Amino acid sequence: MSAAARARKAWEQTMSPSSRIHVPVLAGELVELVAPQAGETVIDCTFGGGGHARLVADRIGPRGTLIAIDRDPVAGRRFEQFADEVSCRTRFIPMEFSTALKTLQDEGVRADGLYMDLGMSSLQVDAPERGFSYSHDAPLDMRMDPRQELTAAEILNEWPESRIVQILRGLGEERFAGGIAREVVRRRPLETTSDFVDAIKAGMPTAARFGSGHPARRSFQALRIAVNGELDSIDAALPLAWDTLEIHGRMAVISFHSLEDRRVKRFFASLAVGCTCPPDLPVCVCGHEPEAELLTRRSIVADERELEANPRSRSARLRGALKLAERTAS
Ligand SMILES: C[S@@+](CC[C@H](N)C(=O)[O-])C[C@H]1O[C@@H](n2cnc3c(N)ncnc32)[C@H](O)[C@@H]1O
Repeated sequence: MSAAARARKAWEQTMSPSSRIHVPVLAGELVELVAPQAGETVIDCTFGGGGHARLVADRIGPRGTLIAIDRDPVAGRRFEQFADEVSCRTRFIPMEFSTALKTLQDEGVRADGLYMDLGMSSLQVDAPERGFSYSHDAPLDMRMDPRQELTAAEILNEWPESRIVQILRGLGEERFAGGIAREVVRRRPLETTSDFVDAIKAGMPTAARFGSGHPARRSFQALRIAVNGELDSIDAALPLAWDTLEIHGRMAVISFHSLEDRRVKRFFASLAVGCTCPPDLPVCVCGHEPEAELLTRRSIVADERELEANPRSRSARLRGALKLAERTAS
């Protein structure tokens, strides 16, 4: 049995049935990349249901410290139970992860391992009242952090049509963004997720409604990313996360769509650049050393078994890097 399969099995055995709600994606593979050792400090930037964190906690043991971050108070409540169940030292920071990482940096905290499992958790999607799901009728909310002011309703009902087109096209790669945005504006005010689903269906050609997947999937994804400022958060957090790592620390990120994965890939690639001298120079004069070693040349994706057991893993991509030196670029 591979190390990844062993780690996944360990997770399945340690989770009590009542807590098996969010099934962590690429769990064994992520733990293998972060490679937590006894006594280390590891930061989980996206605690969610704590599935990955539980595996890491088992590895770092009673002398280790797990720092968990999540901007969703539901994850915070989940963390209280988690902290009682694991043997390592724990700390929870209820903030957006770039702000939390800045706080840790200001405190001088350094980690041996750090990971992010981006996007939303099943705890969020499966809470109908939060408006993340096109399968339940609910108010147009979609905030991961309910303290935030901006909601999905505000974007759909108050933002100009051109900005809604940009969101649907840019963040959801929705081909019929123009038609959908027009319908949204025509039907204002939209009050519930069903109102938005109806506008989406009306805004696309009939044949397109019966293509692969739910017709609202892309638009809901786009709106959620916009409401939560997800891409800006990632851009701000990646360098902070890297700077929080010790030399020889390991970082891993699981992303769920190409806009996230592209950012992670480029960030790690920029750190892994070595000598930048022209190829015809006989010896290196730039002296530039790579600041990272890529642990994944290509992203890791779920195997057949996981795809079958957990459909959420279908779009997951995992990348990792080992820190060799502090970052010089700003
Ligand atoms: C995919 S889930 C993580 C699941 C977790 N790894 C597990 O095994 O249960 C993503 C979590 O990250 C949180 N999250 C997403 N973006 C965030 C951000 N910018 N700052 C803080 N938390 C964030 C969400 O609230 C959600 O709970």
